[in-house]
Amino acid sequence: MKLSSKDLLGMKELSAEEIRYILYQAEIMKQLLMQNAKKTPHLQGKTVVTLFYENSTRTRMSFELASKYMSANAANMTASGSSVQKGESLIDTARTLDVMGTDVIVIRHQMSGAPHLIAQHTNAAVVNAGDGMNEHPTQALLDLLTMKEKKGKIEDLKVAIIGDVAHSRVARSNIYALNKLGAEVVLGAPATLMPRDISELGVKAYENVETAIKDADVVMCLRLQKERQQSGLLPSMREYSKFFGLNSERLKLAKEDALIMHPGPVNRGIELCTEVMDLDRAVIDEQVTNGVAVRMAVLNILAKRS
Ligand code: CP
Repeated sequence: MKLSSKDLLGMKELSAEEIRYILYQAEIMKQLLMQNAKKTPHLQGKTVVTLFYENSTRTRMSFELASKYMSANAANMTASGSSVQKGESLIDTARTLDVMGTDVIVIRHQMSGAPHLIAQHTNAAVVNAGDGMNEHPTQALLDLLTMKEKKGKIEDLKVAIIGDVAHSRVARSNIYALNKLGAEVVLGAPATLMPRDISELGVKAYENVETAIKDADVVMCLRLQKERQQSGLLPSMREYSKFFGLNSERLKLAKEDALIMHPGPVNRGIELCTEVMDLDRAVIDEQVTNGVAVRMAVLNILAKRS
């Protein structure tokens, strides 16, 4: 099977069948990693460049490791220290990488739609590694893989997504994907941190966390995005933590075996308290591990599309 697009720009663009196919390929990659197979020939002769205009630890490192584990030529570029600082445009930057013979460009950018823009101007496959407040598709894929591993399925799970939904590309990608795969998505956020297009997202939404997490199979807490907050959206961090942070008492409302997820990086004591993070069913480390397998699968599928 091939994806219908040369690029991976968002979960919105993928069919349920395409999502299942990527997850299946990620499961195969995970098996290789579990066998410590960290030098496979999958991408021999292929070139992968990561182009990051925003900070990242997990996404950037896992794309780099995934490329190297599959024997690709891997290179990294950040906006700081490049000709972006001399005023080179996004399209010119991407085209420069493209004509060097790059097969896959992985881009993170603060502007929603930046990956879609460069995808139209490059022969290389483009992977969205997070664009503004729009999407972060490989994060949703690794979240889905983790849910599938731990719960055995995605269909019919009740997934509560808690916190700063308005600014979260992780939430948006998960909402699109979970809806396509038959899960029930419930949001819990202060009114000021709910997305404006909530009525179009096919989810239930509550302005208190208790109602949202009741009987949930999965509680996904989001990072409070301090860098994207306009003043006035929140009274204070302390109040956010008091009313929306996940603590042991609140967690009792979810199912007894509910998974606790967070895309990272965690603001400890704000979205999640340490005692909850230390529970066995908090799978934040497993999410990070699965990120490598998912990115291996995505790079392998896209680099070999022709
Ligand atoms: N979850 C996530 O995208 O983390 P990074 O910003 O560290 O890549």
